Amino acid sequence: MRFDPFTDSALADPYGQYAAFRAADPVHWSEKLGAWVLFRYEDVAAVFRDDIRFSADRRRAARAPRADPEATGTAPLRIVSSDPPQSLVVRAILNAALVPRVRALGPRVEAIVDELVAALAGRNDADLVAEFAYALPIRVIADLLDVPEAERPRFQQLSRTIARGMDRFYGTDDVASGLREIGAYFLGLVTERTDTPGDDLVRRVLHADHQGDRLTPLEVAALCTALVFGGHETTANLIANGVLALLRHPTELERLRDDPSLVVSAVEELLRYDSPPQFISRVVAEDCTLAGKTLRAGDSVLVGIGAANRDPDAFAEPDRLDVARTPNAHVAFGLGTHFCPGAQLTRMEARAAIPALLARFPRLALGGEPLWRRTVILRGLERLPVRLG
Ligand code: HEM
Repeated sequence: MRFDPFTDSALADPYGQYAAFRAADPVHWSEKLGAWVLFRYEDVAAVFRDDIRFSADRRRAARAPRADPEATGTAPLRIVSSDPPQSLVVRAILNAALVPRVRALGPRVEAIVDELVAALAGRNDADLVAEFAYALPIRVIADLLDVPEAERPRFQQLSRTIARGMDRFYGTDDVASGLREIGAYFLGLVTERTDTPGDDLVRRVLHADHQGDRLTPLEVAALCTALVFGGHETTANLIANGVLALLRHPTELERLRDDPSLVVSAVEELLRYDSPPQFISRVVAEDCTLAGKTLRAGDSVLVGIGAANRDPDAFAEPDRLDVARTPNAHVAFGLGTHFCPGAQLTRMEARAAIPALLARFPRLALGGEPLWRRTVILRGLERLPVRLG
């Protein structure tokens, strides 16, 4: 059996192929991807929880698996691609700054959603990807980082370029130069804020001290880039994939429309059902066995979030969308020490955006064939044509 996530049918629906591998070869060596690919919930959870044997530090890979946008010109990063204890210092500093800031952003998120929905009112049709799903998170991140109004158009353009390059199998020159430019932009912004007081996120991170450890301005700039990189495309995909899933399951859509209190479980279910990151990378740090296979130090591993979230051993009727599913122990945000620090922000955005759209457009319907991007790591739509009225 050969795992091929690049075919048209796998792009439209990767879950059938995941199920076949889960049954026949759940820890699969893919020559094409140059990595072990994991399909079972149990193995995915075990790898996420084992920082010792499975490292997030790509520099430990014996063989770099193709173009890797995270390695193209960004500043040294002690987050995302590093292991404890380094990653824990950055996370502690980031979380301390992020939690109060995210809480304060609630009304602003609602206001942006209202503006976006109002801009669609009176129209017959729209592309929900460009006009809604992408528009929200990028404005929220610009607010989170207090990017000045005048700089927002350029910031948004750069963010879009680098976010789209997050799929390492499709890293392009555009992405590399976008990353360099946004890195330089943030370094300027951070330097400007170094000597002035304030309680914005950048200054809080810049002045934070965690047990005597501080981040350098270069690291803070890199962290800002990581927030754009990690928080833009993912959230946009959650909203667009989620709306598509609801449109394809009208009974579930009506259930949510009739009972808005279901929004909390519905967003978790949409995260599970069509997860924005389908895979997360790890590198084997020491030889070990997994499901009877021998993995060698330096081997790359693609941890199958999307496949784990459809594993029948972890979820009853995993291919059924159920907006009231509880409990729902999905792994869309990862698990363990790298668990997504942006989870609360994303939940806040999706819980505001999806019900507002359903409430404002009672006859919302698909307006044509959705177009999937040709990506493997991040599953998302290029276009979601809808009829609004
Ligand atoms: C639908 C939305 C999102 C999903 C599904 C998601 C998913 C994930 C996952 C699976 C990880 C774990 C990576 C690993 O284990 O190596 C992660 C890490 C991360 N996410 Fe998110 N994310 C989302 C939104 C956000 C947002 C809005 C932000 C920023 C405001 C963000 C910032 C980060 C950062 C900085 C990390 C690295 C944490 C670390 O390595 O310790 N994410 N995310």
